[in-house]
Amino acid sequence: MKTLSVTLPGRSYDILIGSGLLARAAEHLRPVLPRAKKLFVVTDSNVAPIYLSALIPGLERAGFETACREIPAGEGSKSPAMLSALWEDMMDFGLTRTDAVIALGGGVVGDLAGFAAATYLRGIRFIQVPTTLLAMVDSSVGGKTAVDLDGGKNQAGAFWQPSLVVCDCDVLDTLPEREYRCGCAEVIKYGLLNNAPFFNDLMETPAKEQYEHVISTCVEMKKQVVLSDEFDRGERQKLNLGHTIGHAVEQCSGFTLLHGECVAIGMAVITRAAVKKGFCAKETLDAAEKILKLYDLPDQTAYSTDELLNMALADKKVANGKISLIVPEAVGKCSIRPVPAEALREWMQAGGIV
Ligand code: NAD
Ligand code: GLY
Repeated sequence: MKTLSVTLPGRSYDILIGSGLLARAAEHLRPVLPRAKKLFVVTDSNVAPIYLSALIPGLERAGFETACREIPAGEGSKSPAMLSALWEDMMDFGLTRTDAVIALGGGVVGDLAGFAAATYLRGIRFIQVPTTLLAMVDSSVGGKTAVDLDGGKNQAGAFWQPSLVVCDCDVLDTLPEREYRCGCAEVIKYGLLNNAPFFNDLMETPAKEQYEHVISTCVEMKKQVVLSDEFDRGERQKLNLGHTIGHAVEQCSGFTLLHGECVAIGMAVITRAAVKKGFCAKETLDAAEKILKLYDLPDQTAYSTDELLNMALADKKVANGKISLIVPEAVGKCSIRPVPAEALREWMQAGGIV
């Protein structure tokens, strides 16, 4: 098992990465939650039948009383209505400030349960037990929690760091292939962003053949970014590589395209635009397209600039009429470029969107 520690002012937490951790989660939880009596577990309708029975008995043997809410799987559950339902459940269960929430699932469960924990009783502790590759390498670490509003993804949320993250690589065995590929899009993002050797490594060896290494490498990179900019005011924005256009595609598709697929499209579009505008060499685009193909990820969209612009400009990343684009300059090197919102159309067109 590998342990990485995130130490922020006044708070620190461990991220455990290894095998067989789910059944032994209670061992790691007890020292983190010495006064907790009750644990409220949030999971989804795909994860519950496979993994609840591995988690709950250990928690109960360790003396925790548990209650569980199983939400319908999918982005549609990341909603204010579901958030409110969780608050009510937590009250009915008598969860107090010394108790905690456990998020057992992918990024949807983690973002929703994390936001519920951030807001219930003005904030109680929560534990991330991510079960998708995407959640292990990205969403479970760093404390971004949110729900979607009709007008946009993640529009209501909070920065609320977990007290522990438990990544049991064994659970990835049951992940559907499409979800695996989505996780790989975020993994590739880290390589393109600031780690060329890791990017090359992913070309040579599929992520699924080196999970522990892949997850710990990504989490280490994310940790460094979060330590330098917890509240997303500068360096952390780089993690949005591929996300400005990606989120717009995701929304235009009515979430029929998955987050990771849209991030892959977003990375390809922005890299194409970067080449066209002279910020990076054609070889970088060739490498990006090659790795996306290798992982069977999409690299273009049929949505038009007009359709995507409406979505992209409603994004919270637009501030004072400017939007910060994360622009690849080489494999392993990207820069933050604030551009006027009006310029986004031209960037999209340079990236091959009609
Ligand atoms: P998800 O939570 O919808 O999970 C994907 C699917 O896999 C679901 O159907 C789920 O039921 C199923 N599943 C999960 N674990 C499984 C397992 N082990 N075996 C079988 N099936 C399993 O999606 P995701 O890709 O994990 O996360 C996407 C969400 O994360 C989006 O809402 C996105 O906005 C958010 N996100 C948040 C951050 C952040 O920093 N907070 C970062 C990236 C993405
Ligand atoms: N997933 C982007 C971030 O955590 O900042």
